[in-house]
Parts: sequence; structure tokens; C-alpha cells
Amino acid sequence: KVNTKTMHEYYTHTSETNMDLGYGILVNKYYSLPDKYAPDDIVSMSSQYAYPDNSIRSEVYDAFKEMCKAANADGITLIVNSSYRDFESQKEIYEDYKDKNGIEYADKYAARPNFSEHQTGLSLDIFSPGYGMKTFENSPAFEWLSSNSYKYGFILRYPKDKESITGYSYESWHYRYLGKDLAKRVYDSSLTFDEYYAYYLDK
Ligand code: DAL
Ligand code: ZN
Repeated sequence: KVNTKTMHEYYTHTSETNMDLGYGILVNKYYSLPDKYAPDDIVSMSSQYAYPDNSIRSEVYDAFKEMCKAANADGITLIVNSSYRDFESQKEIYEDYKDKNGIEYADKYAARPNFSEHQTGLSLDIFSPGYGMKTFENSPAFEWLSSNSYKYGFILRYPKDKESITGYSYESWHYRYLGKDLAKRVYDSSLTFDEYYAYYLDK
């Protein structure tokens, strides 16, 4: 708890994250992006890979395309429904949740602007046709991702029963790009990225 800072209430002890870590940056309820951060290599995703109006950092797109190809070869179709979100769109989402359901609910399901992995341009919400938020965890695509996504640089960022560490409700669809080497190390550790960061990257 000391190492992950979860001894502190969320958003009460925040600092700017270490951007020198590149694809390995940590963004959570303790570490923010620089104010209004926007990556400079965002590319738009084609309808073959995502629903309309999705965009993501270029290297993440390449990795996702490679992962889709491998998934397709195993009979699995992956489709992205949310990806890069700029400061303003994350603000809108968070405030909409807050206005409709209150702050506690909003903080469990959405990140505050500057504190969202979606604003990093390194996270994708991945689904499979016919499955939604409640059912995706029971899909063959989820099973495939659970054993294979790390090989393409992606990890499941908000796993089941880890809410007290990640600060978010289980999201079977939210995958974070870390690059292949780091993703494998995090996967092999069986830790959340928050814990892995605290133990191995926060020097
Ligand atoms: N739903 C994730 C936590 C976000 O809003 O970034
Ligand atoms: Zn997400």
C-alpha cells in the first residue's frame, strides 16, 4: 500500500507522471499526465479495426493490427470502440457520469481529465462483434486476449478483484499498450501495472 500509494485516498496525493518512461508511463489516481497532454503521433483507425471516429498512437495501431491478424488466424474478430480521448472528451465523459450518478460512481468507472489512460493514446477498449461490457469477459475473444495480448504489447489494465489497487471497476475490455518487452514482464509477474510500476519501475 505504501509503494502503490493506495494508503492514500484517491486523488489526494497526486503528482505528474514520469514521461521519460515513454510507453511505460503510469497514469492512475496518483499520477497524472501533464495538463492537457496530447500525443503528437495520433493516427485514425480504419473501419476494419474500429467503429467510426477512433484514433490512436501510431505504434499502438501497428501493434493492434498485428494482434488482429493473429486473432483472425485463430477465428477471432476484435473491434475497438474507444481509443484516444483528448482532455476535453475525457472531461465530458467524466462530468456526464458525475452529473448523472454522483462523484463516487463517476470515479469508479471513469478517469478524471489528465488522469485517463485514454488521454495517453496508449489504451484501447477492445470488443468482439455481438458482445458488450457485461458479456465480453465470457467471449472467445476475451479468452484469446487473456493468453495472447501481451505478445503484441498489450495488458489487461483493470483486472477482476483488483479494484482496491487499480481504483477502477473490472474492465474486461480495457487494454494498455506497454510495448512487447514490458508487457511480457508485467504479464509474467501476474501483478497489476500499478504494482509492477511501484516495485520495478519507480526508481
Ligand atoms: N474507464 C477508464 C478508467 C477511463 O475513463 O480512463
Ligand atoms: Zn478504456
